[in-house]
Amino acid sequence: MDIAIAARRESAGSSMQGGFGLSQGSGGRCKDLRPLRRHSQSLLKQLAVGVQAVMGEQNCSASLVSSGTIDLCWLSYSRAVANGLLGHFYDTFLVHPQIRDRFAGTTAATQHEALRHGLSSMLKFVEGDRMGCECLKRIRKSHSRAGLGVDPALYPLWSDSLFRALRRCDPLYDPQTEKAWRTVTELGLECLRSGY
Ligand code: HEM
Repeated sequence: MDIAIAARRESAGSSMQGGFGLSQGSGGRCKDLRPLRRHSQSLLKQLAVGVQAVMGEQNCSASLVSSGTIDLCWLSYSRAVANGLLGHFYDTFLVHPQIRDRFAGTTAATQHEALRHGLSSMLKFVEGDRMGCECLKRIRKSHSRAGLGVDPALYPLWSDSLFRALRRCDPLYDPQTEKAWRTVTELGLECLRSGY
């Protein structure tokens, strides 16, 4: 069976609390860092319009990206999680005092589950999966001013930690994979920002 399909099936079978089902290994090959291209303002505006349309009450099932983009991300996600993505992400993310304070009193298991669930919700949201869309809407609410109050100005710290961890933990990471992840995470983060 195609690994992307297997990963999706496994993911689709997990509940909002459930696991993705991949165990973490140790190590992971390092790749050279490449300079990241920033999205232009006009592209970000287009993304915002797309997210608003999809997050509307009537439409929670439109795919926002091509199947090629989403497949690249699911495959990369599977490889990276198996190589310790979750731990490596928090090694960088929690270095920032303003982030560390937010997670004081939480266990590594809780943190890992939040990232695993957050990423799989983002991926399912952009591919037009109704449950993924509902999960991301719930996360948008929990991170809003009225909830955890996560200021959108902090999201670049989240992205930087994610991309460092992906480069380190996905042995097949390349510019095409990076571009796919950029597209998906911009859409997901735009969704969270729009609910702040
Ligand atoms: C700088 C950015 C972020 C900060 C500071 C932050 C902070 C937090 C905090 C403090 C918690 C509660 C932990 C606990 O007490 O159990 C949490 C939970 C969670 N976060 Fe974030 N978060 C950020 C970004 C994100 C993003 C981008 C996503 C989605 C991809 C996400 C998904 C989740 C999920 C799924 C949970 C579990 C609780 C829930 O479902 O609402 N977070 N986050």
